[in-house]
Amino acid sequence: MSTPNPPSAARDPAIGEILVQADDLRRRVTGLGIEISRDYSGRDLVLVGVLKGAVFFLSDLMRHIEIPCELDFMAVASYGSATDSSGVVRILKDLDAAIEGRDVLIVEDIVDSGLTLSYLLRSLGARAPRSLEVCALLTKPERRKVELPIRYVGFEIPDRFAIGYGLDHAERFRNLPYVAALRREGVVATVPSAQAPW
Ligand code: IMP
Ligand code: MG
Repeated sequence: MSTPNPPSAARDPAIGEILVQADDLRRRVTGLGIEISRDYSGRDLVLVGVLKGAVFFLSDLMRHIEIPCELDFMAVASYGSATDSSGVVRILKDLDAAIEGRDVLIVEDIVDSGLTLSYLLRSLGARAPRSLEVCALLTKPERRKVELPIRYVGFEIPDRFAIGYGLDHAERFRNLPYVAALRREGVVATVPSAQAPW
């Protein structure tokens, strides 16, 4: 059954064109879960979610993985401007458990320049996991600065700033059930808040 998006009159003016509808998200996430279950059957799978954006995708994805698996999280801060990461990354929250000898799948919301993920791959790769792969809900290939092996991709999107289904702009819009482009002219200045760096 399809979930209608709210009528445009009721929509926040900062929410622009829909890039991925809720139904398409559901179908693709189910498909990725089936693929991962098949590929990792008989292995020792640990999903590593990158906070906070990947939380919605990860929790839906994990419900469609039908093999034993564990969950851990990392939080990283990327230095740079609001829209461009520099590749210099600091770990704010590290994994709870060791990953040596395990099959690690990093779950990301979006790969933009690829610099954050490139750092994560180096950092986790140095801990000698048995395997290390990436599952990203969204990717913006036009923005890529470093080539990365991304084993599972949900959707390729154009070079637009995406919000919804976990993705934020200044911590808002994560709760949208679809992915939309941000309309910058519709963004209303809010009370300045201590903004989380991830
Ligand atoms: P990268 O290092 O440039 O690949 O940026 C990665 C991180 O920046 C992602 O994990 C997101 O948290 C954030 N990011 C990049 N593009 C977008 C976007 O379009 N919307 C929201 N967050 C984004
Ligand atoms: Mg983020």
